[in-house]
Amino acid sequence: MRILNIVSSPRGARSVSNAIADTFLAACRATHPTLEIDTLNVWDEHLPDFDSQAIGAKYKGVAGEPMNPAEAATWARIAALAQRFQRADRIVIGVPMWNFGYPYKLKQLIDLVSQRNLLFTFDGQAYGPLLKIARALVIHVRGQSHDKAAGGDSPGFSHQADYLDFWLTFIGVGEVRRILVEHTWDALAPATLEQGKAEAIALARDF
Ligand SMILES: Cc1cc2nc3c(=O)[nH]c(=O)nc-3n(C[C@H](O)[C@H](O)[C@H](O)COP(=O)(O)O)c2cc1C
Repeated sequence: MRILNIVSSPRGARSVSNAIADTFLAACRATHPTLEIDTLNVWDEHLPDFDSQAIGAKYKGVAGEPMNPAEAATWARIAALAQRFQRADRIVIGVPMWNFGYPYKLKQLIDLVSQRNLLFTFDGQAYGPLLKIARALVIHVRGQSHDKAAGGDSPGFSHQADYLDFWLTFIGVGEVRRILVEHTWDALAPATLEQGKAEAIALARDF
């Protein structure tokens, strides 16, 4: 089994989402000795900008038109990133909350790989998924809490978690599981980290 492990916190060893993902992957490794883990850290990957050149390549690809050398190079990079999704049996994503959403580098990756005929189909009317991935785990982490003290209009994890659930389903993930961890920057942080790790170990049993 091959897990695509997407890291979207730049905080390395200080990151709560990384720590819980690592605990989950270690627990998976204990039950799958032949497990392969492909770690895609969006901060280390030197992702190309999704700029006018990338969009030009995208539209020429869809139209079957020849790309110039720069567009072809960008498209090759996009295809290589998408291939890492195509080769995965499962996906794990650690997601810090940033301004009620998720880090822009994760969206950059999503915009790069979400290409027609690579991760999904579109026949002019309907979309269809191209991946066949049974399960994904998304670990959502935030400093604040969703209790009353955080403000009655706090949206909790809805902006980041609902979009990522939708996107993963859209490209062909059958079931998206969530771990939600709050209070990472206050006195409850050690307890919430331990709770998150315990949930991760439990979820690894039948991943
Ligand atoms: C740029 C930035 C924006 C943040 N925005 C929020 C926020 O909107 N709500 C919140 O509860 N925490 C917010 N935080 C706190 C992080 O969610 C928290 O530190 C979390 O532990 C980050 O995940 P990590 O430990 O995996 O890096 C923000 C942190 C940063 C750096």
